[in-house]
Amino acid sequence: MSSGQETPLVGKPLPSQLSPTCPGHGLAGVSESGSPQAQSRHLTAQMQSSLQPLCLSLETLHRVKGRMLEAMERGLSRRTHSQATVRMLPAFIRSTPDGTERGKFLVLELGDTHLRVLLMELSGDTDQRVTMEDQHFPVPDAITQGPGEKLFAFLATCLWEFLDELHMPQTDLELGFSFPFACRQTRLDQSYLISWSKGFRCPGVEGRDVVALLQEAIDKQDRYRIKVIAVVNDTTGTMMSCDASAGPCEVGLVVDAGTNSCFMAEARHVEVVEESEGRMGVVTEWGSFGDNGALNDVLSPYDHQLDQASLNPGKQRYEKMIGGLYLGEIVRHILTELFSGRTAPARLTEGSFQTQDILEISDEQVGLATARRVLRALGLEASDQDCFNTQQVCSAVCIRAAGLCAAGLAAILSHMCRSRELSRLKTSVAVDGAVVRAHAKFRQTLQQLVKQLAPECDVTLVQAEGSSKGIGMVTAVASRLAAQRRRVDRTLALLQLSHDALGTVQALLRQEMELGLKKETHASSSVRMLPTYICATPDGSERGDFLALDLGGTNFRVLLVKVGSRERGGVQIVSEIYSIPPHVAQGPGSQLFDHIVECIADFQTKQGMMGQTLPLGFTFSFPCQQTSLDQGILLSWTKGFNASGCVGQDVVKLLREAVKRKNHFALDVVAIVNDTVGTMMSCGYDDPSCEVGLIVGTGTNACYMEELRNVGALAGEEGRMCINMEWGAFGDNGCLDAFFTPFDRQVDEASLNPGRQRFEKLISGMYLGEIVRRILLELTAKGCLFRGRPSPKLQTPDIFQTKFLSSIESDGLALRQVCAILEELGLHVSCEDSVLVREVCQVVARRAAQLCGAAVAAVVEKIRENRGLEQLAVTVGVDGTLYKLHPHFAQQVQATVQQLAPRCSVTFLQSEDGSGKGAALIAAVACRVARHQRA
Ligand code: G6P
Ligand code: BGC
Repeated sequence: MSSGQETPLVGKPLPSQLSPTCPGHGLAGVSESGSPQAQSRHLTAQMQSSLQPLCLSLETLHRVKGRMLEAMERGLSRRTHSQATVRMLPAFIRSTPDGTERGKFLVLELGDTHLRVLLMELSGDTDQRVTMEDQHFPVPDAITQGPGEKLFAFLATCLWEFLDELHMPQTDLELGFSFPFACRQTRLDQSYLISWSKGFRCPGVEGRDVVALLQEAIDKQDRYRIKVIAVVNDTTGTMMSCDASAGPCEVGLVVDAGTNSCFMAEARHVEVVEESEGRMGVVTEWGSFGDNGALNDVLSPYDHQLDQASLNPGKQRYEKMIGGLYLGEIVRHILTELFSGRTAPARLTEGSFQTQDILEISDEQVGLATARRVLRALGLEASDQDCFNTQQVCSAVCIRAAGLCAAGLAAILSHMCRSRELSRLKTSVAVDGAVVRAHAKFRQTLQQLVKQLAPECDVTLVQAEGSSKGIGMVTAVASRLAAQRRRVDRTLALLQLSHDALGTVQALLRQEMELGLKKETHASSSVRMLPTYICATPDGSERGDFLALDLGGTNFRVLLVKVGSRERGGVQIVSEIYSIPPHVAQGPGSQLFDHIVECIADFQTKQGMMGQTLPLGFTFSFPCQQTSLDQGILLSWTKGFNASGCVGQDVVKLLREAVKRKNHFALDVVAIVNDTVGTMMSCGYDDPSCEVGLIVGTGTNACYMEELRNVGALAGEEGRMCINMEWGAFGDNGCLDAFFTPFDRQVDEASLNPGRQRFEKLISGMYLGEIVRRILLELTAKGCLFRGRPSPKLQTPDIFQTKFLSSIESDGLALRQVCAILEELGLHVSCEDSVLVREVCQVVARRAAQLCGAAVAAVVEKIRENRGLEQLAVTVGVDGTLYKLHPHFAQQVQATVQQLAPRCSVTFLQSEDGSGKGAALIAAVACRVARHQRA
């Protein structure tokens, strides 16, 4: 009970903001206007002491809330679920109505004595009009007591009689079934009856799935094509009955004869179900809160008396303080004590106060008259003071119930706010049941106390429109979700690649590689297989200081690379990142190279190296035809580059001309290398078996050590040469056409280089976001996203960058964070939208990783066969933002390689220093060779 310092809500003077909830302080019967009636009566000392045990302070309610939160956590956790007092049963409802539901839905609501059949029609347009027709059928005893088969046949018969009456055409209809008995629900459309109650006793049903039984009965009659798609609890029906236009309603509260609640939980917190994405409706079954003693310090002697005399002592302790079935009994126990010593108590027998009486007596206007009538009906000659006392008791009991209910509701709301990682939660709570409906004070108190107990939540209590409508809505929502799922599956199926399909990609690339290597067929291949004039990986003997440029990825870098002996620290790098604005990357070539030279000058100035001429290695990440190490003719621009006047030119010459134009300094370019080659060399410095370089970043490409005898363009039979495959262009000759989806075609058409780099456009970071965006537009048009309304923001090309794709897929990222990422992009998304966006990102990235894996498999298999080995052990040096930052990409590439090249044991080594280091190492080797040649 409350301690001396605590602030009571009942029984003692309250701070002004709480006074409306306290008997004797602005409550029923004590008019604040100070009417003569009120002045003539007062709370006697005896009354005060009788009501004292019901007195709950705000602090106590906070404690109750805290314990409810703990009990809810236990119910949600897989480990403690089975022993939990608050059972937190998953209801398999994944969404609340969003206003787009449309069509006709049937509802079967089985009550104690009646069956209600209802047909609901939803317009699905902006103001979501709902029309309902219903019919009640009495359920005869012969049915409630007869065999299960008869019961379900009866339900099916009522259904077709109802539809016949409406002259319903023979269309397909979906049905929601309200079956108010203890069940173990395992799916939205699967629920096993545990035991009958409420006078039903139909043999052969317990332990069986009631949805299947109903479906069988309907099918047997073969009158209408009806599919049972949902079985629903009345509390979820309450939550779902609310109008979606007023904002989300994600909590349902029923205070009727008993009490229960439900809410939309984060699916990953509902550990007893497999799902981890999105939300899941949970029915708390909170009536049994306190059955383990958690409410012992709140229970009054009247609660103990009531419990002892009840049919289920020790059970449903929370419900017994809140549910309408019990309020009358609590009042009776208090009045028995108050009237002790008079003849009255004997007349106060069990059931003498009905819930309705209690609620009416609590009413300020008519309460006293009702008290007199009720007491008189019991044969009690009640004085004014007796009536006043009775009213105070009824009020106190109701207000306490509202306070306890508020504590439970606050626990739910705080849980939702916390688990969604929100600083504020805004939601409506649908309320229903005789107690809330009939007792305005109960609602007011509930609303006011919830505000104080969960101040981080903005809550509006909304009167539910009856559970039948809610059950219809559950059905409509399930139907919407299923239809959306079918559309989503159909759309995404285009991007799902089977093992065989990946094998085909591997074989096709292998074929293109062969064609590309041979002189005669080179022109017909889409992969260029360019010689690099690099014939060995570093051996550790390289020394000296080098300049390096690194152009073509996310960053443009200028580097100073000091290559020393391993004992003296190996390679040391100082570098500076410079931006290349799009207008420079896509403007005149001379401007681009002038910019590069200015960056070099800036770097040299910063490093105090002006005037020094160091040998320079140039990483240039675009396809170049080389005839020597220090010359490279640009074959085409890729990625975001399109500077004019460069294609067909030697880029080393373009760089030297820019240096001349600027007249700053001299440059000694000794090597031009592709980033794949730079990466292979950079990793090769640490691991000599690194004979493949792979980039999956803005673009994608690979290089590997090929036998010189296979390189048709070059003379020489002995030894190996690194080949820059330029696999980004794989498929540009049409050989991959069967794999392109409409989204890939759209992305290609809108790109700077339509028809080119088709394989790259399926894989690399520059394009994946665009593929995702195109799919999202399509899914929006199909009504599966953003409630079917295209957001103008989504029309913006390139809003999804690789970094967003990577962060959206991060493991353990709460949906709230996914929403936050999308909001950062200016997209306003619901929880379901963000689940779907994440799924699309996953599918697109997985396809990219698998295609990349299939290509790597083709490369390593070729190396193995070249060398006539049974088994090959090889290392692939890898770089690129997508490969490095995406949470699953690397693992998916590796898994695919393992599947498709089982005879190769492939190690993936991530390059830590970028390809600039590799370019410097190549420059070092070139200088060494040149020295030897001079000597
Ligand atoms: C490397 C290089 C870049 C290269 C990049 C690819 O580390 O140093 O020149 O192009 O990786 O990654 P990105 O994601 O930046 O395109
Ligand atoms: C270029 C390649 C480069 C790759 C990765 C592609 O667009 O054509 O030369 O290696 O991107 O950066």
